[in-house]
Amino acid sequence: MSEIPYKIYLSENEIPTAWYNVRADMKNKPAPLLNPGTGEPLKAEDLYPIFCEELSKQEMNNDDQWIDIPGEIVDFYKMYRPSPLVRAYCLEKELDTPAHIYYKFEGNNTSGSHKLNSAIAQAYYAKKQGLKGVTTETGAGQWGTALSMATAYFGLDCQVYMVKVSYEQKPFRREVMRTYGATVTPSPSMSTNVGRKINEEFPGTDGSLGCAISEAVEAATSQEGYRYVLGSVLGQVLLHQSVIGLEAKAALDKYGIKADTIIGCAGGGSNLGGLISPFVGQMLRGEADYDIIAVEPASCPSLTRGSYVYDFCDTGRVCPLAKMYTLGSNFMPAPNHAGGLRYHGMSSIVSQLYDDKLIRATSVKQTDVFAAAEKFARVEGILPAPESSHAIKVAIDEALKCKETGEAKNIVFGLTGTGYFDLVAYQKYNDGVMDDYIPTDEDIAKSLSQCPKIG
Ligand SMILES: Cc1ncc(COP(=O)(O)O)c(C=O)c1O
Repeated sequence: MSEIPYKIYLSENEIPTAWYNVRADMKNKPAPLLNPGTGEPLKAEDLYPIFCEELSKQEMNNDDQWIDIPGEIVDFYKMYRPSPLVRAYCLEKELDTPAHIYYKFEGNNTSGSHKLNSAIAQAYYAKKQGLKGVTTETGAGQWGTALSMATAYFGLDCQVYMVKVSYEQKPFRREVMRTYGATVTPSPSMSTNVGRKINEEFPGTDGSLGCAISEAVEAATSQEGYRYVLGSVLGQVLLHQSVIGLEAKAALDKYGIKADTIIGCAGGGSNLGGLISPFVGQMLRGEADYDIIAVEPASCPSLTRGSYVYDFCDTGRVCPLAKMYTLGSNFMPAPNHAGGLRYHGMSSIVSQLYDDKLIRATSVKQTDVFAAAEKFARVEGILPAPESSHAIKVAIDEALKCKETGEAKNIVFGLTGTGYFDLVAYQKYNDGVMDDYIPTDEDIAKSLSQCPKIG
């Protein structure tokens, strides 16, 4: 076998031209979305008032294994894809491990994360439908930034509700969004009914993704020519993010490398779902086996400590009900620094795969995550996003286990983004004033007790 380069690049012609829909290969399909009023399963048409039509169809599509990527989206992908699969030789040396570590780096675009892969697709379908604009929420700010780049490209208006704690911690990310023409409002705001209600109920709240989603949905449904778009959780987003896994697999295949362990951080599940989709597809078809690990923050542990039940996707309870591992839609995660992982639930697809034991999950404390982030930055050069650093932490742990056992496992993890806008968090860590917030069983039981009682 030829020497494996530091960076395995595919050529432009190897960018995927179809997304892979893992649901088609799942024997146990993700549970359907339910109408929050009637409890009945939703059809694509029921989603048209909220989502673009084509995206609603993708949301409901459990059957087509492959969905063609429109040429205009592939052309946009060419500006920043294929993303490299990097062999972390320097990290391996630092850890003195026999393991081979690879990471798929999605931070090499101005938005700084994988979110652009779905943002451009969602903006494309909104444009194609003749809409004026879209509304959304953003946690850490990466999704809002990605969406504002995508909407600027297609000449659409973009209204972003940004979780208040991130709005305050990351003023520069806000300015990037405004530079691309988006309007950014801290959430919960006083400009929507649901925002005013949440502010009244939780005075002084730092906000959460669940609150911001409710506000963005209200803004979309109350304005003519607008629809709501979401950067994670939904099946359509995982579908778009399958480009990550398809490219990663093609790069590994090029050098005859068979991954043993695949690791991704999990907020709403989109990067993890996208990275693992083609590999899980092989598992579902009985072609290969992998150890797949979802990593979540100990402060917001939906897979490892939540329940697998129907719940609202948002705090304001205006969105459809989804069956997922959840901490309860009014769970208010402590203000940890991985804003993109502060979501109470998990993608229905990832939840079903986890429930079927095709993947496993672990949770990690944020000070341990930042220690891993610094180690990685110092040897591999890239300053990782706090979210991505959850995967780094577990990749390091797995590589150190190999040191004990002497196994030369191939460990692949998703490095979803860069942390240049997360320097307040790095500052806290460097000053030794970062805390680890872990919810108590009572906290979780309290919010879970308010989940709707379905079936
Ligand atoms: C850099 C980065 N990684 C990961 C995530 C988590 O989202 P998801 O679980 O949908 O990939 C986010 C979300 O904002 C993010 O910004």
